[in-house]
Amino acid sequence: MRIVRDPAEMARLTERWRGRGERLGFVPTMGALHAGHASLIRRARASDRRVAVSIFVNPTQFGPKEDLSRYPRPFAADARLCRKEGVDALFHPAPAAMYPPGSSTFVVVEGLSDVLCGANRPGHFRGVATVVLKLFNIVRPDDAYFGEKDYQQLVVIRRMVRDLDLPVRIVGCPIVREPDGLAMSSRNAYLRPSHRALAPLIHAGLSAAARGGRSAGGVVAMARRRLAAIPEAELDYAALVDPDTLAPARTVRPGLRLLAAVRIGRTRLIDNVIIS
Ligand code: PAJ
Repeated sequence: MRIVRDPAEMARLTERWRGRGERLGFVPTMGALHAGHASLIRRARASDRRVAVSIFVNPTQFGPKEDLSRYPRPFAADARLCRKEGVDALFHPAPAAMYPPGSSTFVVVEGLSDVLCGANRPGHFRGVATVVLKLFNIVRPDDAYFGEKDYQQLVVIRRMVRDLDLPVRIVGCPIVREPDGLAMSSRNAYLRPSHRALAPLIHAGLSAAARGGRSAGGVVAMARRRLAAIPEAELDYAALVDPDTLAPARTVRPGLRLLAAVRIGRTRLIDNVIIS
């Protein structure tokens, strides 16, 4: 496995693969890799001759009061996981290589970026869209893999790719969960044991509401009630939305997404389920 820090060198490496007609799959991450990330790598391995992973804790998607400086960076363990999963290239650029002084161009996916998580994290999806476009331009993958765990992010990226005619296929991948239902996340490591024990109630509450509600309002009300009842938790939002536009649903139908963000202690956790 090649570990590459220089964007120009990364671009040259994937250019060689393209020249030989080798299909390239790409999994962008911020590291602290877990089984959720590994599932994206495996999905890429199954469809693409070459697989590239990026690890870059992207400063532009963190708010001033967010966890940029304390975000976990266990690079050696991450590199081991990538090697074990058969990754061909691990791209690990320095912040100054991605954002040289004077960087002033950003991608804004209007509307989709301002609702749900975007309402609580202004500028977050602008940072995500910008870095993902930059990574696409450096790596130039045929396929790029994103988890449904960050459902709004997946919708924002799909819209950016459509609106800007980017020549990449976006593949959404199912959420990988702990045995107790908690969606795997690098941020779960922040939870102290008593909070970790409460965290599975998020998925349990969403699942019960997705099954139990007879109307759109009923589903959302049940989700809010269940999530607000988690001890020491504070509900950011719960919403039942169209899977492509994120517009609030008026009636229940299969395929809608029930999304929520919950703060337990100081850790903000997101999760979602599909209406089946
Ligand atoms: P990160 O949080 O590291 O996630 C990288 C990818 O792994 C995302 O597509 C995310 O949805 C997926 N993922 C995380 N947990 C998952 C789980 N439990 N099951 C399935 N997939 C999961 O998302 C980011 O990084 C960044 O915003 C990034 C896209 C890299 C841009 O900086």
